[in-house]
Amino acid sequence: METLDFDVLVIGSGLAGLRAAIEVLRTRPGLSVAVVSKIQLMRSHSVAAEGGTAAALYPEEGDSPALHAWDTVKGSDFLADQDAVWLMVKLAPREVRLLEHWGMPWSRRPDGRIAQRPFGGHSFPRACYAGDKTGLFEMQTLYGKLVSMDGWERFDEVYVTSLLVEDGVFRGATAVDLRSGEMVVFRARAGVLATGGAGRLYRFTTYSYSSTGDGLGMALRAGIPLKDMEFIQFHPTGLVPSGILITEGARGEGGILLNAKGERFMKRYAPEKMELAPRDVVSRAIMTEIMEGRGLRDEATGLEYVLLDLRHLGEERISERLPAVREIAIKHAGIDPVEEPIPVRPAAHYTMGGVNADAYYRVLDTEGRWIRGLWVAGEAAAASVHGANRLGANSTIECLVSGAVAGRQAARWAWERRGEQPAVPRDRVEAEEKRVYDRLLGSETGDDVYAVREELQETMDRYVYVFRSREGLEEAARRIRELRRRMGTVAPRDKSRVYNTDLVAVLETANMVDVAYTVVVSALARKESRGAHYRVDYPRRDDENWLKHTIAVMNVEGDIELSYTPVNITTWKPIERKY
Ligand code: FUM
Repeated sequence: METLDFDVLVIGSGLAGLRAAIEVLRTRPGLSVAVVSKIQLMRSHSVAAEGGTAAALYPEEGDSPALHAWDTVKGSDFLADQDAVWLMVKLAPREVRLLEHWGMPWSRRPDGRIAQRPFGGHSFPRACYAGDKTGLFEMQTLYGKLVSMDGWERFDEVYVTSLLVEDGVFRGATAVDLRSGEMVVFRARAGVLATGGAGRLYRFTTYSYSSTGDGLGMALRAGIPLKDMEFIQFHPTGLVPSGILITEGARGEGGILLNAKGERFMKRYAPEKMELAPRDVVSRAIMTEIMEGRGLRDEATGLEYVLLDLRHLGEERISERLPAVREIAIKHAGIDPVEEPIPVRPAAHYTMGGVNADAYYRVLDTEGRWIRGLWVAGEAAAASVHGANRLGANSTIECLVSGAVAGRQAARWAWERRGEQPAVPRDRVEAEEKRVYDRLLGSETGDDVYAVREELQETMDRYVYVFRSREGLEEAARRIRELRRRMGTVAPRDKSRVYNTDLVAVLETANMVDVAYTVVVSALARKESRGAHYRVDYPRRDDENWLKHTIAVMNVEGDIELSYTPVNITTWKPIERKY
């Protein structure tokens, strides 16, 4: 088996991964960096980010990092760690301007400065944007910067299957090179895990097909804890019937939500902020309208929805500010938003939880000790800046900031240890080979992995959605336990090695069932409603008992064990959250 040596291993090639790789090379030119991605580098889900990147750019107009921090903490329903939030908001303006220097085509104000638009839960219009293709342009800008640098190598279509950690120290990772189907070992002194979220646990989702929670599954198998996994964000405006994102920028530009009676129903739920209330509030409002019979129905799919009306904005503004919204609605729903309202309902959009990390994105073990040499960045991380509910436009900025913070530290760590060769635990590599080739690929008879995945998504859509109950979550837990059992016997139809997409499906689904189970176990245990986690049987926030982070670990039997850690409250005590 081939072993590849690098100073720093970056797993994942979205905004966070690319930003981390750049920062390693800026901090210590001369280091070697591997950027490994299971897909082609520029196909990362980050390209789908649409509406904006939050940063307090203009203090002279009344915005400030402090106001950004307060909005983020309030939006998080006070579960965010405030030290991590402060770090993000303070570094945010610099990241936006760095991108500017690297060629980012930000949309402009008439005076040429970077334009910003309103976004839900932000009390200042601070979402910097590039039309409604912000993530795509950010990715292109980072890619352009990275290709101008020496010292890195890309490994596209190489699927990382396990993290090699021993004695509390990161040593590298195992991966399957999809072109040959062979396993390779990456040996590195520092690692940055930037594998994104797990939205494909759901069928109705804004995520690309690649967002299967691989980093989270790997962490669980390596005994690394996940934090706050019960908090899944539902974006209020997923296009019906596909789930494709209709950006919050559409409401930022003045779009309004209407029920079947033509009422602007947000006045009942968030009289001040209306459509620009945070996503948890708007998603619950939409689902309440639907559940109380004021929704519409898509006959082909049975999906119920409300309407997002942009018509009053006019063709010129829609085409200038929201070209992708128009294109997506025409192509995927046959609706031109200039002439008709768009059918929407909440879609799985973001994983607030993730790999347990401190404010500097260092990965922490069950005892809260840093796993030396390992960082996590972007959506895979729970540092935790988003707590129970992320504000729109705070994800791309977290990707940039956390990539920079993790990359800089990883560079310093690897530089100080150059010349040292990490000892790769060979027994772990052998065990991983067995898991992949014997257990997952080797079964002759057994279940169809695609059926397992579909049942998982159906279960999550039905029982672990905007409103949750004990009975629903127990049913989800029962079904997912069964799906995990079936994953032990799936038999890929394609037994070959070269570009075996069945094998990819099996590897992904093995991660998905473990991550989904963690979501459900964490959600069942949290007997309160906070942010995106709403329990109909415990409809109130309960700070006395639940102002704490959920820490979930997978034990050797595969069970999920929970414990709790305090929230880091440095500045703002929790108050009632009203919009
Ligand atoms: O609606 C959007 O454009 C999504 C932005 C975000 O999730 O931050």
